[in-house]
Amino acid sequence: MNIAALKRLKITEPWFDETERKAVEEVLASGQLIQAERVREFEQLFAHETGMDHAVMVSSGTAALHLTMLAFDIGPGDAVAVPDFTFVATANVVARTGATPIFVDVSPETYNMDVSALREVVKQMVASKGANGLRLRMIMPVHQFGLPAEMDEIAAMAKEHDLLLVEDAACALGSRYRGRRVGAWGAASCFSFHPRKVITTGEGGAVVTNDACLADRLRALRAHGFATPPRQPELVERGLNYRMTEMQAALGIGQMGKLPVILERRRRLAGSLTSALAPVRWFLPPRVPAHSSPNWQSYVGILDECVDRSRVMQRLADRGIETRPGATAIHRLKTYREHPAQGQPACPVSAMLDVRTLALPLHPKMEEADVARIATELSAIRA
Ligand SMILES: Cc1ncc(COP(=O)(O)O)c(C=O)c1O
Repeated sequence: MNIAALKRLKITEPWFDETERKAVEEVLASGQLIQAERVREFEQLFAHETGMDHAVMVSSGTAALHLTMLAFDIGPGDAVAVPDFTFVATANVVARTGATPIFVDVSPETYNMDVSALREVVKQMVASKGANGLRLRMIMPVHQFGLPAEMDEIAAMAKEHDLLLVEDAACALGSRYRGRRVGAWGAASCFSFHPRKVITTGEGGAVVTNDACLADRLRALRAHGFATPPRQPELVERGLNYRMTEMQAALGIGQMGKLPVILERRRRLAGSLTSALAPVRWFLPPRVPAHSSPNWQSYVGILDECVDRSRVMQRLADRGIETRPGATAIHRLKTYREHPAQGQPACPVSAMLDVRTLALPLHPKMEEADVARIATELSAIRA
């Protein structure tokens, strides 16, 4: 077989067509490049899609999370419980406010915050009553790879202990938990439009909320702190510039039109991958609880302990198939490892997933033949 002639299977590919191309050209021709009517239109579409009253578009998912921390006045002396197995932005946005992220171990089944580990963290921190200089103020679950976290239990814990609840739904547009769209549990929920997400604007993000005052505050904070019309154009906050551009919004509006098809294709391809990979004994495919309907933002499985992940990745790369490690055990990263929070619990499951998870290509431009090719190549590897 001539490997060079084979199509390169990328981990993900954006799906744009004439709709997005024309929309961006119109923005360029108009000369109105920064936040204006297209951003407002995208916000309306997005609020409708997520079933929330307000959507505030920003420049990235990280900006969405950071603004949310600021809007809740998270800062020094506060602790925020986050899953340990995630993308580093989840922790960095907390740390950057001067607050402390507490890393909670995750479930080996769902890769999401483990409910009993969270219960233990909450119990310990509530019992300590701030004795170690830290007060737990917020729980921020992540819907990792688009699979919803256990929101009923997490929301009940937040309510019982009067903690803020914010969803890092960066990966999870279109995912449902017990039939309800993700993003609906948090006082605010954050989404990303990075190219590895189900819809993309290059870089981009959104915060959704049902709280009109919070939405107003987020709008001011993203634009240097100026109140948004119809309020007086006064500097009501010390804000930042996290605005989305009209080019990004034009892409986003086009992508929203494709969302149902994108989700349908991702779900179908994920099902095909799981069936086709069944004979590969050393690869444990992702599992989905009966009450969850993920958007399949990423397709991530676990390799057997004896399997050398770098060798598998190299072998697949040599055959034109791109892969990635799953996510990261944040407590193991240099800066967090060297400065652990007081009372930081161990996260053994996350540490295991850090070295053993593997993401395979999955995107709406893929075909069943690509799935078959991935399965053939994985089957040929003697682990
Ligand atoms: C769980 C999670 N949170 C936050 C982010 C940050 O989003 P962005 O890359 O848009 O800043 C990402 C994305 O990459 C993510 O996967």
